[in-house]
Amino acid sequence: MWKGRLAIISLLVVSLLASLSMFTVGGASDDQLEVYSWWTGPGEEEGLAAMAEAFEASNPGIRFVNAAVSGGAGSNAKAILASRLLANDPPDSYQRHAGLELLDDVRSGKVQDLTTLYEEQGWRKVFPKGLLDNLTIDGKIYAVPVNIHRANLIWFNPRVLRELGIAGPPKTWSDFLAQAAVIKGKGKVPLAVGPEWTQKHLMETVLLGELGADSYERLFSGDLRWTSPQVTSALDMFGKVLANSDVRSAAGEWQPQLDRVIEGSAVYAVMGDWSSSYLEQSKKLQWRDGYDVATSPGTEGVYDFLSDSFTLPTGVRSPSLSRRWLIECGSADGQNLFNPLKGSIPARTDASADLYKGYLGWTLQQWRDPKTRIVGSLAHGVVANNAYNAEIDSALGLFVQHGDLGKFASTVQQQFQETR
Ligand code: GAL
Repeated sequence: MWKGRLAIISLLVVSLLASLSMFTVGGASDDQLEVYSWWTGPGEEEGLAAMAEAFEASNPGIRFVNAAVSGGAGSNAKAILASRLLANDPPDSYQRHAGLELLDDVRSGKVQDLTTLYEEQGWRKVFPKGLLDNLTIDGKIYAVPVNIHRANLIWFNPRVLRELGIAGPPKTWSDFLAQAAVIKGKGKVPLAVGPEWTQKHLMETVLLGELGADSYERLFSGDLRWTSPQVTSALDMFGKVLANSDVRSAAGEWQPQLDRVIEGSAVYAVMGDWSSSYLEQSKKLQWRDGYDVATSPGTEGVYDFLSDSFTLPTGVRSPSLSRRWLIECGSADGQNLFNPLKGSIPARTDASADLYKGYLGWTLQQWRDPKTRIVGSLAHGVVANNAYNAEIDSALGLFVQHGDLGKFASTVQQQFQETR
């Protein structure tokens, strides 16, 4: 009898201990949220920190773990993420760009479908249709956009232009070449560039400026060949533009690229509008005064966009916790907290314009103008999947080294087919 009771008691104790230990394991894994991005630069770091603080305040007891890996455009972060995903060790949420950059993750089952979350939160009504289309793959939606950035911009120091007697930034790339001759004559570098991804970013804006929005889109949808006369002539222009840059000596990230423009050793830099928060917050410069910016040559009225978005990876420890983060990313409060610090504009159409002053006010007005033509960025994941982008990177590296335009065009054309 006693033996029987003892057995029952020990069974109860064992199962109690087991459930306690399960609870402890679950509790330990549920008390933090690891968010993976490449936001370590000025502005973006502050924006992320503000979101982290708000997340912790509304989720008491949960620690926000910032797993950011430095390197512009995710140049390092994406490689490390790939190995974590391969090892089934995903962070609780990770940054991706809206567009084809998501495709590989979706096809390999690395991210979860967020369609229901979109319905619950009413997000289909608050994000622009074009953006929703870029986040949708095979009818399902896989990431939550926190912002909009613009890629087709040329940055300069107005004082330097005045000193050189240049009336304004170039309207076309041919104008740029004409200005470049004057600039070089005065001992300055016409265009500052940075690491490889900034060279691809530059190529994208030259293609857009030379081809126009329609042909640019046709190039990435496969209707226009890289080897066609039209694209060959645009690439030829890209080669000439590069020849007027400091590509041979350029070192460092995108911030030093802008530093050279502000100091005046170089005159222009093509870069996305994360530059505005760097120039304003780190360099304490004012738009239209200490720095200025225009649409990159030949792209007036066109908005080459990209959007930072966050995912719900497959196999995360607590999907409901990750969802809470995604809800913050997609909320009006989250976007209004993040974007003015980050130097980007809200992805939501209902976010108030009042918070966006100076450069950000200017670009928000253009983003929302129905006459603006919107196209997607290559270097920031909208129009090419990761495999295609990686092939373009290798071919571009060789082109920059050896200048063989024909080889570049034929390789990229072939890779378009092979990476589809
Ligand atoms: C982009 C990203 C921006 C910014 C930039 C520089 O790819 O969308 O948010 O981080 O790279 O690193």
